[in-house]
Amino acid sequence: MAGLCAAFALVGGQAPACADNAAAQELAPYVISDDAIVEPLAGRRGDPGGGQALLAERHRSLCILCHAAPAVPAPLQGTLAPSLAGIGSRLDAGQIRLRIVDMKRLNPDSLMPAYYTVREGTRVAPAWRGKPLLEAAEIEHLVAYLVTLKE
Ligand code: HEC
Repeated sequence: MAGLCAAFALVGGQAPACADNAAAQELAPYVISDDAIVEPLAGRRGDPGGGQALLAERHRSLCILCHAAPAVPAPLQGTLAPSLAGIGSRLDAGQIRLRIVDMKRLNPDSLMPAYYTVREGTRVAPAWRGKPLLEAAEIEHLVAYLVTLKE
């Protein structure tokens, strides 16, 4: 809600990031520091097993439409985006979190969907309207799994 986001703006002078449309589903507020969201969304701790399963669920997370990832059968791996193999050696949890939440903040032209925003007015299917593509807990599961992927 707008009030929460405004309250957050007072903390540490960091730019607050909030849902683009306050009328849509309320998102947990988060703070971007450099290229990362350091704190887990909604204070949740993710489960790596849940993250691995969700990553492989092509129709739910969509990740492997674009990315290759270990433990996913080769024919299902995407080739459009960088492989997620070894991502935990290249990026820390906070950096991975921001990339899933909203890659477009780092690269406005990125093809990667912003998973934790609500943007009304775009022509998404009814099932996705007015809510983020993934819930905070699901994003934390993915982060918890991806940090384990070391080179
Ligand atoms: C429509 C294609 C697409 C989908 C779906 C997608 N991504 Fe991406 N992703 C990209 C592209 C392209 C990049 C490269 C960075 C850029 O666009 O600037 C990227 C970059 C990343 C990075 C940073 C990789 C690096 O080496 O720096 C991470 C982490 C990531 N994606 C995770 C995910 C996860 C987790 C999901 C599923 C929840 C996902 N992506 C879904 C296209 C996608």
